[in-house]
Amino acid sequence: MHKFILLLLSVFPLVVFGGPLMNPQTEGKIARLIQQMTLEEKIGQMTQRNGADGHEDQIRDGLIGSILNEIDTDKLNNIQRIAMKESRMGIPLIIGRDVIHGFRTVFPIPLGLAASWNPELIKQGTRIAAIEAASVGVRWTFAPMMDICRDPRWGRIAETLGEDQYLASVLAVAMVEGFQSDDLSNKDALAACAKHFAGYGAAEGGRDYNTTSIPEQLMRDVYLKPFKACTDAGVATFMVAFNEINGVPASGNSFLLKQILRDEWNFDGFVVSDWASITQMINHGYCRDDKHAAERSLNAGLEMEMATSTFIDHIKNLLDEQKITMQTIDDAVRNILRIKFRLGLFENPYTDPADFPELVNAEHLAAAKESAIQSVVMLKNDNQVLPLSKEIKSIAVIGPMADDQFEQLGTWTYDKNIEDTQTPLMALKKFDKSSAKINYVQTLEYSRAKDKKDFQKAVEAAEKSDAVLMFMGEESILSGEAHCRANIDLPGIQEDLIHEISKTGKPIVLVIMAGRPITIGNIIDKVDAILFSLHPGTMGGPALVDLIFGEVSPSGKLPVTYPKVVGQIPLYYNYKNTGRPFDPKTYVPMDSIPVRAWQTSLGNETHYIDAGHKPLYPFGYGLSYTTFEYSDLKLSSNKIKLVEKLQVSAKITNTGEVAATEIVQLYIRDLVGDITRPVRELKGFERLQLNPGESKTVTFELCKDDLDFHNQKMQLVTEPGKFHVWIGPSSTEGLQGEFEIVQ
Ligand code: GLC
Repeated sequence: MHKFILLLLSVFPLVVFGGPLMNPQTEGKIARLIQQMTLEEKIGQMTQRNGADGHEDQIRDGLIGSILNEIDTDKLNNIQRIAMKESRMGIPLIIGRDVIHGFRTVFPIPLGLAASWNPELIKQGTRIAAIEAASVGVRWTFAPMMDICRDPRWGRIAETLGEDQYLASVLAVAMVEGFQSDDLSNKDALAACAKHFAGYGAAEGGRDYNTTSIPEQLMRDVYLKPFKACTDAGVATFMVAFNEINGVPASGNSFLLKQILRDEWNFDGFVVSDWASITQMINHGYCRDDKHAAERSLNAGLEMEMATSTFIDHIKNLLDEQKITMQTIDDAVRNILRIKFRLGLFENPYTDPADFPELVNAEHLAAAKESAIQSVVMLKNDNQVLPLSKEIKSIAVIGPMADDQFEQLGTWTYDKNIEDTQTPLMALKKFDKSSAKINYVQTLEYSRAKDKKDFQKAVEAAEKSDAVLMFMGEESILSGEAHCRANIDLPGIQEDLIHEISKTGKPIVLVIMAGRPITIGNIIDKVDAILFSLHPGTMGGPALVDLIFGEVSPSGKLPVTYPKVVGQIPLYYNYKNTGRPFDPKTYVPMDSIPVRAWQTSLGNETHYIDAGHKPLYPFGYGLSYTTFEYSDLKLSSNKIKLVEKLQVSAKITNTGEVAATEIVQLYIRDLVGDITRPVRELKGFERLQLNPGESKTVTFELCKDDLDFHNQKMQLVTEPGKFHVWIGPSSTEGLQGEFEIVQ
């Protein structure tokens, strides 16, 4: 059978839905290699080791197929030479690295990039990251991470593209295209990796690695959407998640790795474990021992083992005991070799940095600055405190994040060069369009510091200044893998510092650099303006200074819901209405409940008596230095058949004084479904650059595939019925229309 398929392949190229064509010549080469390989050499291709040192002999014996976490080009060229020239089969290694939001030039963390809602900009940034990483010899990145996350307690929300599957799908595809370029065999192309498959961001309690319970409809209609989009875009590899889903760990989950990924999506790349995720199935209580873990992961469809050695240790015995088949091994090796061929590694396994542009060059820094500018969300701007006047005489600069070249880079920045970072203080000093005197008091050595000794100095700096810029937030280590927080307020005594500075009565601009939304209920009324910049990367300083002085208007929009208090979590915009939806008319806040009130069924809707129902700021929200007016909502029809398309348009006018960009959003609501439908679903967005007084009309097109969901029978359906539709500036505002789908 096997040979028959290969014969067929050599005659009829197999078109993989959405993915690249399977090249019959390549498939023939792969088949011939597999025929010649020993079992040990096959297992070698399925084995990934950490670093080059000490692995030379195993590479020479064909027992390693991939190396991660090595960026010394001489070492990489040496082990590639050993693999190509000294091993029996001469198969090149695939070199992997976490190139998550930049390599040497660090871009905003992915959650910040998501706030730009700009796929073209994100594609440019990942293209630059790929060029820099490939220049040292890396050809595979463990990115994009596309886990949907509705819980900012989770440390890895910093790495996500937010809470919405539509936005995450569009941006994840842009990242794949940027990393992989238009031809994976380009020397500066990286194989991308869709991770973590799947449902990792649904960890109970926002605690990393924790249990997830995800109904299949939710899995298919939310968590899998970005992975499917990236499969259709030709992503080369997948990485499994650490978590279990409904009792089955992702590393041993054949529903995900076979039924979904292979049978339904026709994925033709390969799947790598996460770090030791195979052996962790013992901890999960899903496997007895390493051998059982190898058996269950291989039979589920896992193909390359990161960091542990259950494949090397147990595959031969598992084959002898007929617990696994040689077909499984050959399929895994075939998929791995296919990606190595697509990367052109057989022809070009070596790297010459001279063939690449300089790292951290002016073009890369300019792109990082533009990404940082567009990643900043202005949450508040009372009394138009921002932008600061260029004639301002003095500015107090206060806080632990004002001049910290390390902390503003954020999580997953192994290959940064801290000296490249340009901090806000550095940028303020270099900003030649203002001659303001800078009164800088760091005040707190780091975000968790608890020493008030410099508070008075900070107060004095504020008192002698015309305005105060407070750069606060989280050190980078307070988010990222395994760094989850049960309380997401500003760490340490930052709130106390803000209280003290607010007593001076000076206008205060709070800049939050963090890996997640930070709850600011205790201090929001103490500051006049808030810029939510997440960790903005190498060029965060110049980006923030340009925004603060109005060289450019903020344009970012929240890719996640911003809670009032941590107790509201999980909190997201595309929630279900429930049988007792929140009703502001009957809501009685806790402090207004009469003493000794009798229990009553009145006012019993879904809310918190001490926090209401709404977030502090909704998904899709972000302010600008101008104002935009939405008008003339038009639908091409109010009734459409399933096979027809609907155009929805609106006019947007810049009604303010400065040019700016608005991210116009399209939402729908399916009013009645075979299963309940969310109160809002993002179905489109468009960035509009408008000069003062300028108007543009944005037109979106909806078809039945935009409105489908999985019903109780797990069928993907679009049902007749009424829909609401909005075009607006966020998930809670906009012009509303209605249409009906008729049979
Ligand atoms: C980590 C992460 C994964 C990363 C891998 C290699 O534990 O979960 O995202 O790519 O190990 O560093």
